[in-house]
Amino acid sequence: EDPRIHDIKTRIRVVPNFPKPGIMFQDITTLLLNPKAFKDTIDLFVERYKGKNISVVAGIEARGFIFGPPIALAIGAKFVPLRKPRKLPGKVISEKYILEYGKDCLEMHVGAVKSGERALVVDDLIATGGTLCAAMNLLERAGAEVVECACVIELPDLKGPGAIEWQAIVCARGVPLIMADDA
Ligand code: PRP
Ligand code: MG
Repeated sequence: EDPRIHDIKTRIRVVPNFPKPGIMFQDITTLLLNPKAFKDTIDLFVERYKGKNISVVAGIEARGFIFGPPIALAIGAKFVPLRKPRKLPGKVISEKYILEYGKDCLEMHVGAVKSGERALVVDDLIATGGTLCAAMNLLERAGAEVVECACVIELPDLKGPGAIEWQAIVCARGVPLIMADDA
């Protein structure tokens, strides 16, 4: 394993019982406080995706907006924000998805992605995989080819409707950097 990965892992703070009892929250803000670990995180993705003819990096609100743009700049791709509902001012396409508790939705501006473009989806974490699956669906509906999903952390303990299926779909094309020990 790349020694940078071990260091990155030590910078992620695990907060028990946040935001509710039983959840081990993976806090990436402590990783961001260390410029070397933050840069190593971006570099590991850039090393993987540079030269792969990727023209779109799509970041998922909110924490995909932290890791997506530096990767996009480094590989010479455009950045497309996938936002929570009613945030984008232009015409959008939407994709609903199911969370462990409740529902949510991602939206993308029509015209942000052209048919046939090669896209990378970026987020901080995969739990059930529902969020990344919705993002992949949005891009594919717009005619893009999703090359991979890049996220920093994978939670091993999956729950919720569709969790195993979604995770399999995403992980077939994804690369979490770090597996959380205890979710
Ligand atoms: C968290 C995390 C991922 C998603 C993963 O985001 O940042 O985006 O959950 O969960 P899943 O694999 O089960 O779909 P959250 O929806 O809490 O919002 P935030 O990023 O805006 O804080
Ligand atoms: Mg998120």
